[in-house]
Amino acid sequence: MTQQMKRIGVLTSGGDGPGMNAAIRAVVRTADSRGMEVAGIIRGYQGLIDDEVVSLGHRDVSNIINRGGTILKTARSEKFKTDKGEKMAVATLKKHHIDGLIVIGGDGSYRGAQILHEKFQFPIVTLPGTIDNDLYGTDQTIGCATAVNTALESIDKIRDTIQSMERIFVVEVMGNKSGYIALQVALGAGAEDVLIPERSFDYPSMIKKIKAGHRKGKVSWIIIVAEGAAKAPDVAAKIEQLSGLETRFVVLGHVQRGGTPVAADRILATRLGVQAVELLLDGEYGKAVGVLQDEINIVNLVQACKMPEKHIGEYLRILELLR
Ligand code: F6P
Repeated sequence: MTQQMKRIGVLTSGGDGPGMNAAIRAVVRTADSRGMEVAGIIRGYQGLIDDEVVSLGHRDVSNIINRGGTILKTARSEKFKTDKGEKMAVATLKKHHIDGLIVIGGDGSYRGAQILHEKFQFPIVTLPGTIDNDLYGTDQTIGCATAVNTALESIDKIRDTIQSMERIFVVEVMGNKSGYIALQVALGAGAEDVLIPERSFDYPSMIKKIKAGHRKGKVSWIIIVAEGAAKAPDVAAKIEQLSGLETRFVVLGHVQRGGTPVAADRILATRLGVQAVELLLDGEYGKAVGVLQDEINIVNLVQACKMPEKHIGEYLRILELLR
């Protein structure tokens, strides 16, 4: 029989993502309805080191389900990666009588959670909060769907100018070391090509395709580049140099991380937030919560830290087919 938790902590860490607030809301309200208090930690692990803790009640999370960013703020803490930082973080958890912790974040945040769980036996559950969709054990991470949509909105606008001026356009999207966002965006935007870290590429064959298209009267191209594969300015310069065709680039950058979360992200965040609290209550620690084929899926944190192999073959085949 596990000991009933009285007070749990929640933090967001690493790059923010649309839907994190919906997750916080679900955590706070589930805990509240189960008779537990919630401590919100400001600025992720750095806030644990700096002892930045606030109480969160039912009303504190009103009207945030539709807001981008995170009301708890977030950070990437270098100090937490040290022995001293880890110990300071645990001391803050103890000082505030926090019995269990819910971490909402990406791979770096998961590794931090794993340390607290393994080294300090602290009860922890994690939720996948990152636009990158690069965590094992879940089909989707909170924020990815919105980030893809946001990128598509921008590219739809870029398409107007591309067509009017008959150019090649290279669009760089985020994703860290993963090409997932790039593939989604490429398909959704009807792009001609995509460069992702999971697949090697060479300029000669890309230029060959562009020139062949050009000969057939194709006058505009959209090429999506995952930030982990190459830098858009370099790709654009190279294409222009080798093809002789006017090429421009845009780096969408952090615009993809902001904005109102789409329905899929709000719903995912809400389901996972509830589940995370229930896992803590059930004494299931050191776990990462996700969704596979629309069912809640729970994996050990150690596994969850690994980057999954997503099936990219089908996406690439479709791009090739529809170009
Ligand atoms: O992990 C989310 C992410 O947006 C990545 O896609 C990107 O590589 C990184 O964070 C950017 O981090 P920062 O906001 O610290 O520049």
